[in-house]
Amino acid sequence: MKDQDTYDLSWDEWDELQRPAPATTDFDDVVDTAISRRGFLTGVLAYGSGAAVMGTGLLSGTSAEAQAASRFGFVPIPIQTDGTVHVSEGYTWAPMARWGDPLFSDAEALSQETGVSVTSSDRVFGENTDGMEAFIVGTRQVIAVNHEYVNTKVNLPQSGGEVTSADDVLTLQNMQGVTVMEVAEGESGWGVVVDSDLNRRITQNTPMELRGPAAGHPLLQTQADPSGTKVLGTMNNCGAGKTPWGTYLTCEENFNGYFGSTDEGFERPEDYLRYGIGLEGRYAYEKFDARFDVSQNPNEPRRFGYIVEIDPTDPTSTPIKHTALGRFKHENAAATIAPDGRVVVYMGDDERGEFLYKYVSNGIYTPGGPTSGLLEDGQLYVAKFNTELTGEWIALTPEATGMDEAEIAIFTRMAASKVGATTMDRPEWVAVNPVSVEGYCCLTNNKNRGVKPNAGGDDTSANGPNTRNENRYGQIVRWYPSNDDHGADTFTWDLYVMAGNPTVHDDAYAGSSNVNAGNLFNSPDGMMFDSTGLLWIQTDGDDNNEGDFAGMGNNQMLAGDPVTGQIERFLTGPNGAEVTGLTWSADKRTMFVGIQHPTAPFPDGAGMLPRSTIIAVQRADGGLVG
Ligand code: FEO
Ligand code: CA
Ligand code: CA
Repeated sequence: MKDQDTYDLSWDEWDELQRPAPATTDFDDVVDTAISRRGFLTGVLAYGSGAAVMGTGLLSGTSAEAQAASRFGFVPIPIQTDGTVHVSEGYTWAPMARWGDPLFSDAEALSQETGVSVTSSDRVFGENTDGMEAFIVGTRQVIAVNHEYVNTKVNLPQSGGEVTSADDVLTLQNMQGVTVMEVAEGESGWGVVVDSDLNRRITQNTPMELRGPAAGHPLLQTQADPSGTKVLGTMNNCGAGKTPWGTYLTCEENFNGYFGSTDEGFERPEDYLRYGIGLEGRYAYEKFDARFDVSQNPNEPRRFGYIVEIDPTDPTSTPIKHTALGRFKHENAAATIAPDGRVVVYMGDDERGEFLYKYVSNGIYTPGGPTSGLLEDGQLYVAKFNTELTGEWIALTPEATGMDEAEIAIFTRMAASKVGATTMDRPEWVAVNPVSVEGYCCLTNNKNRGVKPNAGGDDTSANGPNTRNENRYGQIVRWYPSNDDHGADTFTWDLYVMAGNPTVHDDAYAGSSNVNAGNLFNSPDGMMFDSTGLLWIQTDGDDNNEGDFAGMGNNQMLAGDPVTGQIERFLTGPNGAEVTGLTWSADKRTMFVGIQHPTAPFPDGAGMLPRSTIIAVQRADGGLVG
């Protein structure tokens, strides 16, 4: 039986409890680094690619000029600390899909006492909505959306969250993964088209194919799959992405926590330690499903931690796990095209002190041309940020790493450590500006910055864009590829924003000058550009609204202007929830926003189970929202 308290932990908090703590770095080094970085801070903050139009002081608010030139079509809203969603005046919101909503009419209704039945659990909308993308299939609109993890107390209310049977495990496995669903707007608003032939649930047991340099490698072979190419399921699907050819990319993040050992004496190999694979899984899968018992299936965890490509137009298609894009705690995937036609995919590894990556295809994308192999044959790079605001993408080649191509694909973190990549403050979503050649990454926070190395022993003293020790607020780094070419090996960079609290601090923890008492937030996480080039920022942070976090309220969604640096709050979420996942209807008159793991009884009200929900946000006057 687990300690009841662990049921309420976020995935990140749970993972932190399980992880080995490497030795603390030398204290003197930490202090020296912090002091030198403070002197450097004003040099790395900027707002537009042309000039720092608002100055670089750390404490000033958004300038009058920037306010006057606002491109936002909404009036900023104050923080909230209640149990529901708020949007800017003149906008409306309504639930579109909630955990447990049927995708097919044969699914049983959700019970407040027992949740979703095991037999219906792969016929309904899953839990913990996260990254999503919208697609147009003929004249129909389809959304593919991730279900990152499960809250057992919600899914198994009859046992208070304890996993006691194989049916419990199967229910949880089915409530995660991906939903592909047709959606439509009717008289009562947006909703799922129940029984659409495009509806599909992809779960932790859906057959998938491994491709790329590691496919078939002995490290990926199991008793059930001696070929090393056929794997069941996808897990901890966090952020997402979309290919230029219209497929969905779902990203396997904290896969490590699903595995355990029924043999307490099982000796974990070195790669388990780097990836955080322990002896006790969060959901006790290993007790009821031998596939997750590493003492019986030591290679099974090595078949997760990839990006998976799904064709949302064909419910019978087999999802593809792309080993060429590396194995780590994949947050999301931001795909774009280099001027020469190569496909570029930026990706973050969300763990304290891990890295930022990009993949560049060897082949060329041409609209309507063949796309097979574009995510299977290419070069993986890892970012190195230099202090003089330059940086380079270091190719993870056999020559540079001493590892073969399959090993680089499976043990990507170790390959990146070998080439001296920059340890980052938890890379969450990456976004590529559609109207300017630049990339952005949310570095959500890192309480271990300057405190202890990453699990590979790499130094995490303050560096490049990760300037603050014990960073609890986070920042967004931006890079400008050389020659306006996302395929280039070099870039320059700055910080778009450094979150902080100028009402509490008067040092670097106050944040950058585009942070002020009116737009306070912490822990930027989800991030998407709309078609007009505005940057939408979603948070997954501390919402206690006290102390360092006073004035920040519940998690929220803000819009940022990449040129002026102005950032304003558009939406606030309910207590306990993270705001994550964003996409738009085909006509850009509806914005779909994900509300994950509310603790308030959202959206159904008092006495009801809290339900992770996608909401539809519109302008009351029917205007465009992105
Ligand atoms: Fe699932 Fe890093 O967020
Ligand atoms: Ca996230
Ligand atoms: Ca997060």
